[in-house]
Amino acid sequence: MSVIPVQTPVQPAKVDERLLKIRGGHTLRGKVRISGAKNAALKALAASLLTDEEVVLNNVPMIADVLSMADLLRALGAEVEIDEARERVRVHAREITRTDAPPELFKATRASVVVTGPMIARVGEISFYMPGGDQIGKRPIDMHLRGFQRLGTEIVHEMDQGIERITAKVAKLRGARIYMDYPSHTGTEALLMASTLAAGTTVIVNASAEPEIVWLGNMLNRMGARITGLGSSIITVEGVERLRSVSDVVIPDRLEAATYAIAAVITGGEVTLEGVMEPHMLPITEKLIEAGADVWHRDGRMLIRAGDRLEAVDIQTLPYPGFPTDSQSTFMPLLTQAQGIAHVHERVYEDRLRYTDELVKMGADIRVARWGQNGEYLATSAEVHGPTKLRGTRVTSLDIRSAVSLVLAGLVAEGETELTDVYHIDRGYADFVNKLNRLGADLEDTGVPNADRR
Ligand code: EPU
Repeated sequence: MSVIPVQTPVQPAKVDERLLKIRGGHTLRGKVRISGAKNAALKALAASLLTDEEVVLNNVPMIADVLSMADLLRALGAEVEIDEARERVRVHAREITRTDAPPELFKATRASVVVTGPMIARVGEISFYMPGGDQIGKRPIDMHLRGFQRLGTEIVHEMDQGIERITAKVAKLRGARIYMDYPSHTGTEALLMASTLAAGTTVIVNASAEPEIVWLGNMLNRMGARITGLGSSIITVEGVERLRSVSDVVIPDRLEAATYAIAAVITGGEVTLEGVMEPHMLPITEKLIEAGADVWHRDGRMLIRAGDRLEAVDIQTLPYPGFPTDSQSTFMPLLTQAQGIAHVHERVYEDRLRYTDELVKMGADIRVARWGQNGEYLATSAEVHGPTKLRGTRVTSLDIRSAVSLVLAGLVAEGETELTDVYHIDRGYADFVNKLNRLGADLEDTGVPNADRR
């Protein structure tokens, strides 16, 4: 007699009750101030561990990832004071009191991995867990670890209650030549910071040239580091004995700027972005112009005006100065409104097109080439057929940029779009709902009462 096992009833997944409602059909007009760059501020906060003197950062975006990084720095012994109104953070790591922190502090962001560099340089040890952050591919840290080993660090992997813990330990870092297989953004940052206090010269070959790294390196130089080659693929660091206090201003967020530029174009509007760095915007502005928009730059401001017609453009993501992978997601809704077939090739992450399923639910015609084995379900290229009429429906954010992509789609969709897992936006975009509403959008965040609408 066969026995049918008793099935434990599956608990329905807890529904996140917070929704971001987007009522489409409004043309955006006006001005918006661009905040400081998330991916620069987070690393500069980590860099403050390199000195026992105070570090003051201005123009820090007030986002959840900054608060997570502040918690991690506090856990390691730093004093962190956040002045939200002034967008200023003071960090004083007078003493490093611990060389480890709970897994959740590392899992909160990908940027947590960069504290490894300063910790190894300052106290010769860190025990940490694989960083979290957006689920957009495998995102290993082999290049960071191999680089640390080249500088003389011993790396030990062990299991801690089912979670992999990594310990990096060194008596004194020694400068070396480090070749990176790929110009990893956080990898370059972690190794750059570690080598500032190493004995002798470090040369990082095939380094990342992203603007956030150039800014970070310049800040480190103002702290007393001796770094040359920033912005090129070979960075040279002459180690110094100690670094000192600094006060700096975080560069504008080119990815946030790109988001509002696309919002202007997709709604047929005209928006001025205040506080942008023209050269950093080039990969985006070139594609916006090719798609039919007009763009002007003057004195740190960028004016974007939608053209009469949107044309399909092809995109391939690459390390800077290539088209940024983060803007692949935010550009996608624009391609759904453009005339013709656009080819999108995601070359940085092997799984950053998953969110397009949500756009398809809204009516987009996006054909993704998928492959995979052993349950993996990966995709790196898409064909977007446009223009298509989008309709508001309930959609789910998968990561920071895909959340914003769905909001952009909602701006041109018929009816109301309801976005779930809104916390992804809090992680990376300061004052997002208010900024869009002041430009004329109609967004309602049911989780956080939004008194300052329009
Ligand atoms: N990679 C490896 N081994 C490594 C490191 C990276 O194989 O040791 C691979 C990754 O799997 C990926 C590619 O190299 O396929 C690029 O990864 P990279 O290390 O350059 O990215 P990251 O440092 O993890 C940062 C930003 C991302 C941004 C990328 C590319 C932070 C905290 N994150 O990630 O930002 O997309 O660089 O510029 O700086 C975001 O802001 O929403 C975001 C995801």
